[in-house]
Amino acid sequence: MNALIVYESMFGNTRKIVEAIADRLRAADVEVTVSLAYDAPADLSDYELVIVGAPTHAHSLPRPKSRSEAAVWAADPTKELVLEPMAQASGVREWLQRIMLVGDPRFAVFSTRADIPSIFSGDAGKAISKGLRRRLARVESHADFLVGLDNRLLEGEEMRAREWASELVPLPIA
Ligand SMILES: Cc1cc2nc3c(=O)[nH]c(=O)nc-3n(C[C@H](O)[C@H](O)[C@H](O)COP(=O)(O)O)c2cc1C
Repeated sequence: MNALIVYESMFGNTRKIVEAIADRLRAADVEVTVSLAYDAPADLSDYELVIVGAPTHAHSLPRPKSRSEAAVWAADPTKELVLEPMAQASGVREWLQRIMLVGDPRFAVFSTRADIPSIFSGDAGKAISKGLRRRLARVESHADFLVGLDNRLLEGEEMRAREWASELVPLPIA
């Protein structure tokens, strides 16, 4: 199976979730391509599974303004955040405008977001699902992974990402 993972990340948390998912899928013999959204293919015809993830900004997907705000946070030494390479490039919101759906890949979406009820945090995953379904894509699964007030993943979230990936593609029986 060929899988594509498309994401953006400001401080590395979404990237760590992506790495955990990719690692788990590769253990299930999936051919995995990981791509930052700005560089991700628009033609999805080569993939049977497409996983899309992003941080939640202002209750939804990042925008150019919120990405700039993230850079301001990272410049504050008291926050101890490091900006990811290409954090200011275009992201999942812009990629969703570019995609061409040929074939019928399965989609799974996730967000990273604050550890508060989602009614208060918002959820980038919902915006991703909406953008995909508008293009008649089949979104089969949705997960969110939580960060604390310090903008770092809660303990156990990378393990939860691995478990989620296992649900998407079960390990072959040894
Ligand atoms: C400008 C900005 C706005 C944010 N708005 C929200 C929000 O509305 N809800 C939320 O749960 N988290 C919000 N966050 C926290 C992010 O979701 C968190 O930093 C992100 O999940 C970390 O992932 P990353 O390291 O991959 O960027 C915001 C972060 C930034 C920088």
